[in-house]
Amino acid sequence: MKKGIVADVVLLLFAGMGPGLTLLFSGTADPAGTDRITLGRYLFYDTRMSYNLTKSCSSCHDPQFAFSDGYRTSSGADGYNVKRNAPSLINARYEQALTWADSSIRSFEQQMNFPLYNEHPRELGWKGHEPEILHRIGELPLYRQLFQKAFPGEPAPVNRGNIIRAITAFEEQLVSFDAPYDRYLRGNRQALSAEAVRGMELFNSAELACSSCHALQSTGKPAAYYNTGLYNLDEEGAYPEEDQGLYDITKNKADKGKFRVPSLRNVLLTAPYTHNGSVASIHEMLSIYQRGGRRISSGEWSGDGYANVNKNPLIKGFRLPEADRQALLAFLSALTDSGFLKKNSIMNPFNQ
Ligand code: HEC
Ligand code: HEC
Repeated sequence: MKKGIVADVVLLLFAGMGPGLTLLFSGTADPAGTDRITLGRYLFYDTRMSYNLTKSCSSCHDPQFAFSDGYRTSSGADGYNVKRNAPSLINARYEQALTWADSSIRSFEQQMNFPLYNEHPRELGWKGHEPEILHRIGELPLYRQLFQKAFPGEPAPVNRGNIIRAITAFEEQLVSFDAPYDRYLRGNRQALSAEAVRGMELFNSAELACSSCHALQSTGKPAAYYNTGLYNLDEEGAYPEEDQGLYDITKNKADKGKFRVPSLRNVLLTAPYTHNGSVASIHEMLSIYQRGGRRISSGEWSGDGYANVNKNPLIKGFRLPEADRQALLAFLSALTDSGFLKKNSIMNPFNQ
């Protein structure tokens, strides 16, 4: 994240120098960190990481759904649901702040404390169970070997810090820039159909303004948070009390309903959508933008998001004839990097 592309370039340069030089510069036997990535990958997919052996990171971040989970909100190891929809982890390393609405969470290491230690609900449930979980992992010959390789020379490598470091190494290489859209940008004019190109123009147009908020490349700019008019419960632009986004941290009324702009990479695989998974399909999502906000006509959350006082002015509604809607969908589907998502090296190692 913070290191971003510069670190990648440096890594690439090092890799290009050949083994001798790389060793000289880095001083370890595993400069590219492959042993840590391997260990992190096992841990990411291992339900031994939860207090009751039911959940792993991959329960809520599954490669089949581009490392999201297909649920409106995910359920934790104690069976209760968390309040938010699990975001994709692909290219998350380039986000300047992590999670839907907390600008202070800036690294994978820091973020990982939440799934490990959150209590209401318990996601992995480490609180009160940490020694037992570490023991369970450390007693397996498989892990003893993996930890020794990943952290050579450490007398007791099976510890929380190393677990977090290894999973971070795995997350950092979930990087994909080879969707048809990327290939098109690199000059392969065949990579996008004429329809998808038209969709890209709509995406970038002043009228739809999608690209004003959703950057498809990493920009290095601070994370941005907007209210997109999904709810409107009172004259202050309230969202349902259980989750008002940035406001819950800042307590500034103008932040009610503001959430981080999510990545649209692989977006067709990550339904349902938005911070609480309340938008079931991409069609519904486009209809909300087309209308300029969501109207909920009955129930406790009824109200017209179009009129939310905190709504960003770019969400104003637009005409979207059927052919344009299809074109936009064709473009959004060109953001799926299916080659990356089929790579063996990111899959569950216990199944291989
Ligand atoms: C019970 C489901 C669940 C489990 C288990 C879980 N996560 Fe998550 N993850 C989520 C949800 C929900 C969010 C969004 C949290 C928020 O915005 O407050 C999230 C957010 C994240 C983010 C931030 C992504 C972004 O784009 O901002 C990262 C990184 C992440 N999780 C990694 C992990 C790792 C690593 C593990 C295992 C140690 C893990 N998660 C376990 C559900 C889960
Ligand atoms: C003012 C900034 C802004 C504009 C303009 C905008 N979006 Fe969004 N978009 C967001 C934010 C913020 C969210 C998350 C809202 C939430 O969860 O409450 C979001 C959510 C989404 C999601 C759901 C993604 C997910 O993983 O949950 C999709 C799909 C999407 N936008 C597509 C579009 C398209 C297509 C356009 C153009 C028609 C567009 N957006 C215009 C800011 C914007």
